Amino acid sequence: KLVYVLNGPNLNRLGKREPAIYGSQTLDDIGAMLEERGKALGMSVLMFQSNHEGDLVDWLHEAEDAGVHAVLLNAGAYTHTSVALLDAIRSITAPVIEVHLSNPHTREEFRHTSWVGMAAKGTIAGFGGQSYMLALEAAAGL
Ligand code: DQA
Repeated sequence: KLVYVLNGPNLNRLGKREPAIYGSQTLDDIGAMLEERGKALGMSVLMFQSNHEGDLVDWLHEAEDAGVHAVLLNAGAYTHTSVALLDAIRSITAPVIEVHLSNPHTREEFRHTSWVGMAAKGTIAGFGGQSYMLALEAAAGL
């Protein structure tokens, strides 16, 4: 079972970026945890990060063509702005699980809207790096 983990803008700066909100783990730390847990669950995890919206659209299409079991998507700020990501999720059949380190609903008003969430299978938010692990467990159960 193949799982794509797609990360959007500024997540390459995890560990250094607003650690009070996002924690001290880097994206590589999270990737290593996911890979290990994925092995135990019989899933191969492929991790991607880009600061460019279109890359995330391309990777969603690619995930579908690769026959993924599921996609974990932390679209960063594009979560709250991107109709293109909403349409991309609707253009594929693979389930997409929305992931956030923070809980956007406890934050600024503009983070309360999620275009990704309108098409996602479900959402896991607010548990720091652990959100990704919980999403992987959810993917395993699909
Ligand atoms: C985030 C939440 C978004 O609102 C923010 O723009 C991010 C990170 C999270 O993982 O908590 O870049 O997706």
